[in-house]
Amino acid sequence: MQTQSPSSWQGPADRRGSAKSSPNTLFRWMENKLMHRVSLDEYRKQVHDVYSGPRGALLATASTLSLHLLLGERLIKQRIFDLKGARNILDVGSGAGQMIQHLLKYADPGATVTGFDFSHKMLERARQRLRDDRPRLVTADMTRLPFADGSFDCLTCGYVLEHLPDARQGLSELSRVLSPGGRMLLLVTEDTFAGAITSRLWCCRTYSRKELQRCCEELGLTWKSELWFTDMHRRFKAGGICVEIERAA
Ligand SMILES: C[S@@+](CC[C@H](N)C(=O)[O-])C[C@H]1O[C@@H](n2cnc3c(N)ncnc32)[C@H](O)[C@@H]1O
Repeated sequence: MQTQSPSSWQGPADRRGSAKSSPNTLFRWMENKLMHRVSLDEYRKQVHDVYSGPRGALLATASTLSLHLLLGERLIKQRIFDLKGARNILDVGSGAGQMIQHLLKYADPGATVTGFDFSHKMLERARQRLRDDRPRLVTADMTRLPFADGSFDCLTCGYVLEHLPDARQGLSELSRVLSPGGRMLLLVTEDTFAGAITSRLWCCRTYSRKELQRCCEELGLTWKSELWFTDMHRRFKAGGICVEIERAA
C-alpha cells in the first residue's frame, strides 16, 4: 500500500482553503485530527482497528440509539431514495449491515445485493446480525475495489467517505463501478456541531455540502437532489448530508 505524507494529501489542503470562509470553522476545529497527523496508511490502520475492535461491536446499537437505523429505513421505505428497477446494488462500507438490512427488505425481488467493508470483523458481525445468506459480502477497501467497471446500477454509501482525507479517493472508484446513468444514495457527516461529535467518536472527518458537491461534479457524478429524512430535518437543515447522485449516462 502506498504511503503518503500528511502534507501531500489533497483533502486537508482543500479544507484549509475553504475553512477560511466557512461559518463552521469552530466545529471543524473540534473535530478529531488523527488523519492530519499520521500517514494515510497509519490512519487507515487505526480506523480499521476502531471498527474491528470493541467500538465496532457497538456500531449497530449506536445506529439504533442515534435513530439512524430508523431514519435510513424511512428513506428507502418511503422511496425518498427509490430502489425500484435497481438490479445490481452495491452497499459501500457495510459495517453492521444497517443499509443492507433495508436493501434486502425493499429492493425488487431478484435484485442482487453486494456489500463490502475493509473490516472483515464488521462483515462477520453483519452476517450474524442479518441472519440472511442472500447478500454477497466482500472484504475490500473503498479506494481499490475488486469489481469490474459499471458492475452496479445502484449504490448506497452510508457514513464511509468521512474516513478518507480526500473524498475523491473513494468517489472515483464508486464512479468507476457504477454503470452510466446509475444512481447512488450518499450519506455523509456534515461540518456541524453534531458532526464534530461524530468525528471524535469514530475518528473521521466531516464535509461541507459545497466541497462534497464539487468533488462529485469533478468526477462526472451529478448531485441530483438533496434528500432529508423528514420535513423537520429539512426545516432545520439537520441530519447531515444526504444526497441522490447520478453518474452521467
Ligand atoms: C460508520 S460505519 C457505516 C456503516 C453503514 N454503512 C451505515 O450506513 O451505518 C463506517 C464503515 O466503513 C468502513 N470503512 C471505513 N473506511 C473504509 C474503507 N476505506 N474501505 C472500506 N470500508 C471502510 C468501516 O470499517 C465501517 O464499518
